[in-house]
Amino acid sequence: MHDYVIAPSLLAADFARLGEEADAVLTAGADMLHFDVMDNHFVPNLTVGPMVCEALRRFGIKAPIDVHLMVQPVDRLINDFAKAGATFITFHPEASENVSESLALIRRLGCKAGLSLNPESSVDLLKNYWEQLDLVLIMSVNPGFGGQSFIPSALEKLTQTRTLINASGRPIRLSIDGGIKVENIAATAKAGADTFVAGSAIFSQPSYANVIAEMRNQLKSICI
Ligand code: DX5
Ligand code: ZN
Repeated sequence: MHDYVIAPSLLAADFARLGEEADAVLTAGADMLHFDVMDNHFVPNLTVGPMVCEALRRFGIKAPIDVHLMVQPVDRLINDFAKAGATFITFHPEASENVSESLALIRRLGCKAGLSLNPESSVDLLKNYWEQLDLVLIMSVNPGFGGQSFIPSALEKLTQTRTLINASGRPIRLSIDGGIKVENIAATAKAGADTFVAGSAIFSQPSYANVIAEMRNQLKSICI
């Protein structure tokens, strides 16, 4: 993986051609796929489950898949997504009865563990888990739908989280999710993000390669 990871969100892809879309975006230069799982309960929308993740693996997708669980409860789906070939499994702390146990379960099943914070959630929610984390996913929209506008207060949350990650001394990725596009990706990197989820900004364009190249170009000037 590059130091900066670009992770297109498949939520904005054409679901009728999902394997081809995943292939196309990886060929266009993406590093990782972001796989949004919504349950019509934790968030007011319903997407796809472990069978679809497994189908992507069977189709031949080898790149890391970052499964973003916006579901409650989380533990059974952690098991199912680990079996289905997830690389990272990320959930929202409010959705688990025992966050530490859910994080431990993800690692025990051979995956990397992440926690996601809603725009309204405080970084304090992360405080007991630094040793158990491989990724923090900061939401810059309210989860549930693609194509929303970036909420600027996410920049401050990135800065706070970056300081805490650096203090932990652990190699934890800091991901930003929601409303990311060529115009704002550099600001999020300056605030500390190193992993960028983008759905509509990539899949709405005729050339995925051009958008990803433009994003990398924006990131070039920034040192982490
Ligand atoms: C929102 C999802 C995001 C979404 C991002 O609940 O978690 O991953 O797909 O889509 P865009 O980039 O269109 O905001
Ligand atoms: Zn997501």
